[in-house]
Amino acid sequence: EPNMDISSNATRTGVGTAHGKIILAGEHSVVYDYPAIALPLPGAKVTVETQASSRQVDWLESLPYTGPLDKVPEELQNLCRAIDLTHSASKLKTGPLHFRIKSSIPIGRGMGSSAAVSVALIRSLVDYMQIKISDHQLTYIANQAEVIAHGWTSGLDTLLASTDSPVIYRKSSTPIPFQFNLNAYLIVADSGMVGQTKLAVGKVHQLREAKPEFVTNMMDAIGGFVSQAIEAIQHQDIIELGRLMTYNHYYLNQLGVSNATIDHLVNQAWMADALGAKLTGAGLGGCIIALAYNRSHAQHIERVLLDAGAQQTWLVNLNAM
Ligand code: MEV
Repeated sequence: EPNMDISSNATRTGVGTAHGKIILAGEHSVVYDYPAIALPLPGAKVTVETQASSRQVDWLESLPYTGPLDKVPEELQNLCRAIDLTHSASKLKTGPLHFRIKSSIPIGRGMGSSAAVSVALIRSLVDYMQIKISDHQLTYIANQAEVIAHGWTSGLDTLLASTDSPVIYRKSSTPIPFQFNLNAYLIVADSGMVGQTKLAVGKVHQLREAKPEFVTNMMDAIGGFVSQAIEAIQHQDIIELGRLMTYNHYYLNQLGVSNATIDHLVNQAWMADALGAKLTGAGLGGCIIALAYNRSHAQHIERVLLDAGAQQTWLVNLNAM
């Protein structure tokens, strides 16, 4: 029997971590059960510490980034509502708790910050209570919070927050772990503009209601790009991969989820000879990714994007992925 009596654990600290993610190709269509390729971004990480508290709920945020801090308590409240919804969690009597969140994942930039906060918080609670839950339970509870926060979700963000491997993901099938082993670099650049996943996913949904044939054609095409991208990676064909990323951006633009800020950064990456560039995540703000031949090419594109207004960048060596 797990120990549910926390009074004897008053000084105990539960710790949970999770990280952000990058979608290489297939965002939005993944919500409609098309495939996507995504990878964890270990450099963007959330740690949550849970302790007993004298107050009923005590939120203490410590975020080094300039995102809207008030969003964090909101996400945690969503999560607590989600935990309440689940049968097993309703049995857990924790008493007043104090959560300390540290995150280097900017909020609302399509990097899965909310999913990572959810996953890290659940892990921290589970550690605090000295109980065990399965990976399935973990992502199930975190997905409840994502549905409250974003309206609709493919489950990709919570999966990526909790795994260390890139994946080929499809809503209706088991995720396939994937290795890039590719001599290329990804540059991730944050526009600094908060995009709202709920809004973007809702926009695509509305367009699909209004123009079902158009949207189905777009999504069929994006699904095709993802399959071709997997082949390109397997054949070490980075020129083709870049081309497919660029097409993917064009189609996301047609779906209405890009904007002038994102298009500007994507254009700047192309001008800096990126092999390909596209928005990543839900769009309407958030981040772009660009593909480079090697580290120095990536650093060049990075400088160009920072000059063009990007707020922060990350480099990912795809040979180590
Ligand atoms: C958000 O990171 C990615 C979307 O495809 C939504 C989802 O998969 O739930 C836009």
